[in-house]
This record gives sequence, structure tokens and C-alpha cells, in this order.
Amino acid sequence: MKNHIASILSRLSLLLPMESNNKQQKKTIWFLPLVCSFLFCFLFISASLFSYYGLSPFSLSLKTPVFAESKLHISSTSSINSIPRIAYLISGSTGDGESLKRILKALYHPLNQYVVHLDLEASVAERLDLVDFVRSEPIFAKVGNVRVVVRSNLVTYTGPTMVSNTLHAAAILYREGGDWDWFINLSASDYPLVTQDDLLHTLFSFPRHLNFIEHTSDIGWKELQRAKPLIIDPGLYSRQKSNVYWVTEKRSVPTAFKLFTGSAWMMLSRPFIEYCLWGWDNLPRIVLMYYANFLSSPEGYFHTVICNTEEFRSTTVNHDLHFISWDDPPKQHPHFLNVNDFQRMVGSNAPFARKFGRNDSVLDKIDEELLSRSADGFVHGGWFDNGSNMSSSAPQYSPVNATMLRPGPGAERLKLLINGLLSQEDIHEKQCI
Ligand SMILES: *[C@@H]1O[C@H](CO)[C@@H](O)[C@H](O)[C@H]1NC(C)=O
Ligand SMILES: *[C@@H]1O[C@H](CO)[C@@H](O)[C@H](O)[C@H]1NC(C)=O
Ligand SMILES: *[C@@H]1O[C@H](CO)[C@@H](O)[C@H](O)[C@H]1NC(C)=O
Ligand SMILES: *[C@@H]1O[C@H](CO)[C@@H](O)[C@H](O)[C@H]1NC(C)=O
Ligand SMILES: *[C@@H]1O[C@H](CO)[C@@H](O)[C@H](O)[C@H]1NC(C)=O
Repeated sequence: MKNHIASILSRLSLLLPMESNNKQQKKTIWFLPLVCSFLFCFLFISASLFSYYGLSPFSLSLKTPVFAESKLHISSTSSINSIPRIAYLISGSTGDGESLKRILKALYHPLNQYVVHLDLEASVAERLDLVDFVRSEPIFAKVGNVRVVVRSNLVTYTGPTMVSNTLHAAAILYREGGDWDWFINLSASDYPLVTQDDLLHTLFSFPRHLNFIEHTSDIGWKELQRAKPLIIDPGLYSRQKSNVYWVTEKRSVPTAFKLFTGSAWMMLSRPFIEYCLWGWDNLPRIVLMYYANFLSSPEGYFHTVICNTEEFRSTTVNHDLHFISWDDPPKQHPHFLNVNDFQRMVGSNAPFARKFGRNDSVLDKIDEELLSRSADGFVHGGWFDNGSNMSSSAPQYSPVNATMLRPGPGAERLKLLINGLLSQEDIHEKQCI
């Protein structure tokens, strides 16, 4: 078609001088505007036709796809030669202030990013106390990588506000947290079993696009108890905290996408978080709207999005990186871990464990034996030396030393776990099945 237009144009340019050379001047007077308007109409109609079909007659390439979102563009991950960085959300509710401070110090590393959230149920005094704590810690002020969520969310247990709170923190970290590689969501009742030097050192050698998310499409009893009933979470629209409630109507199991379920604890890659926040092909938004009425959405939202997206399905590793001990038969909450569980925790090689009671003595044992963290201090590692002052809670920090990781036995345990997961022959049979 382009050739056609071009040939008309060239014929016309030949035609015009010929006509002007012609002695029939009168004919030319009406003939020229006629040809021009004909040409103009032709160009106009063909341009609108072409652009309707997504083909521009004026662009050199005709390869523009018919559907704008037909193929997702997955963002690239950071250079494999750089130390990976983790973005953490640590959230709690009323009474969790002290636990949040403790876990923040146990997880702290200058290369990472942190968002701390105390939900709206916590008193103003408790939230101000947390803000003061973060402001007055010299190392936090110096590095500037700890943020307290100012616009706190009301988070309803088992309600969709848990997922929206997670997405809120992910959005803050995405916009302000620089170049991190993985996002980890923890609560005040979680605790690390390895140091951040162990974690960063171990993750260094693994692909940055991996998503550690425990999942299955075998929803079992959840079909009747979770997928069909409809709930409303008042936390979405009310300033007063109250429980979710059920409506009498039921809905059928979705056919537009497949439901997946699994653990509410996960480590997600930056490209996947970016996709969830932007939702270029709209799936993350549609699924979020669907989960607004789903009981315990944190156990399904990210699982369903990732497994229904071709580009991300093969990046899943079916594990939640947590040691969680369920009673047998399982009750609604996992069993509270204590010193008797210590060996099993270490033996699991998992980097995190839950659920811990506030200030339980097993946390002191973890501090002492796994993290070499003094009471109220930071976890020792390459970024600060314990040589000078073991009890110091305000270490001398140098940005150069932050990149000198000093991994310990935790790194070996974690490597064993991840290598085991990735070398399983049936790893592909565990992805989104
Ligand atoms: C994120 O963290 C909260 C803890 O505050 C937890 O309850 C929730 O289930 C987690 N997971 C997701 C996917 O939001
Ligand atoms: C935690 O428990 C220890 C004793 O194990 C106690 O000395 C300390 O005051 C407690 N801290 C808080 C914040 O409750
Ligand atoms: C630093 O802490 C580790 C772990 O507790 C210990 O093995 C090491 O000896 C300490 N270093 C110094 C110089 O005290
Ligand atoms: C170690 O640090 C603590 C708290 O910062 C301080 O009170 C103490 O004097 C320091 N000790 C030495 C030997 O520097
Ligand atoms: C950085 O690390 C080196 C070697 O581990 C140590 O000698 C030095 O004191 C550290 N610098 C700071 C500012 O901590």
C-alpha cells in the first residue's frame, strides 16, 4: 500500500508540471484543487484505516502487535556481580512495638531496605515511640534505609487489608528503596535464624529472578470454606477495627483463572513485585479485586497471580523459607516455638522461623547461638566489628565494610536448603501444579 501511495505521489508530481506547461490554463484552475482534495481524502481514509488496524502507513516498521499487552516485558535483575539486597516489610499491631524493634535490629544490614509498620489499632503513643526509636538510632539515620509507614493501615486479620498493606509497603520500597533484589514480608512474631551476612552471601550465587513461594492448586477443603463464601473486610473503608463478616450469597470457583493457595510467607523477586504494582496486563488488579472478598487472601493472592502469568510461572520455587510448626491436626494458628524446638529449627536450614511469643527465651538462645547478637545490639558481621566493643549498640559503620560480608555457619545451612530445592529433579513438576 505504501508503494501505491508513493507511486501516486510521483505520478502527481509529474502531472503538475505537465499541466502547467499545458496551454489549457482554465482547466488547470479547477483540475489542481480537485486532484489535491482527492489525494487528501485518499490519504486521510487510508491513514485512519491503517491506524485502526494498528498499522501506520508512515512508519517504517509494520511489526507493531495488534494487542498492546500481548507480551509482558519482564524487567531485568541486578548485576550478578553485585551483592544482592533485600527489602523488608516488618509489620505489627498493638503491643508489638518492642518486638518490632528487636527483629529490626536482628535483621539490620546497611545494604538492605526496611519498612516498619504498626497498624492503626496501635496507639499513637506506641507508634511515636517506634518513630523515636528509628530516629534516634545513629546508624539508621546515617544510612537512611529504615522507614516507618506514616499513613498506617487498618489491618484486619484474614482480610484483604493484609494484602493491601503488603502492597503498600512494596510500593514504598519500590519507589524509595533503591535497587533491591527481593522483597520479604515479616511480622513481629517472626525471627531470623541466619545473619544478614549469611543470607546475602548465599543469595549472591543464585539467580535474582527466583520467587520463593510455597503454593499448590490442590485447594481441597478451601474450595468450600474459602473460595465459595464471600466476605467483606470493614478495614477497607472504616476507621474502626472490626472483624470480617460473611454475606449470604456464594460464588462459584473462578474459570477465568486458576486458584492457587499456600503459605502467607514468601520471598518475591523485584521484577515480580514490579509486575504486581503496575499490572500491565491487568491480571494483578483483577485478581486483587477478586481476593477482596476472599477469606485469608494472603494465602492465595500472590500465588494465583504468579501461577497464572506465563512469564513468571517458571521462576517459582515451592518453599516459603520459614520454619513453621503446626500442631497435628493443624489448628488455626501455628504452635508457638520455644527452646524445645531449637534443634528442629536449626535442622530445617530455613532462614526464618515463626511464630514466637513476645520476648520468649528461645529468642535469646537464637541471638546468642545463631546470630551472635548481644542484648539490644546488632548482629555482628562484616559491616561492623565486634572486636572493639562487644556490647556496643551503636557500631562504627563504614560503607566500605558493608560490602565485606562475613558469612558464618548459617550460610552453609541456607545454601544446603536452596541447593536442595533447585536441584530436585522434579522441580518443574512442583511449579504451579
Ligand atoms: C505479610 O505480613 C503479614 C504480617 O503482618 C501477614 O499476616 C501476611 O499474611 C503476610 N503475607 C502477605 C502475602 O501479605
Ligand atoms: C524480656 O525478658 C527478659 C528476661 O528474659 C527481661 O529481662 C526483659 O525486661 C524483657 N523485655 C521486655 C521488653 O519485656
Ligand atoms: C565476634 O563474634 C563472634 C561470634 O560470637 C566470635 O566468634 C568472635 O570471636 C568475635 N570477635 C571478637 C574479636 O571478639
Ligand atoms: C562499649 O559500648 C558501651 C555502650 O555504647 C559503652 O558504655 C562502653 O563504655 C563501651 N566500652 C568500651 C570498652 O569502649
Ligand atoms: C573495616 O573492616 C576492617 C577489616 O575487617 C577493619 O580493620 C576496620 O576497622 C573496619 N572499619 C570500620 C570503620 O569499621
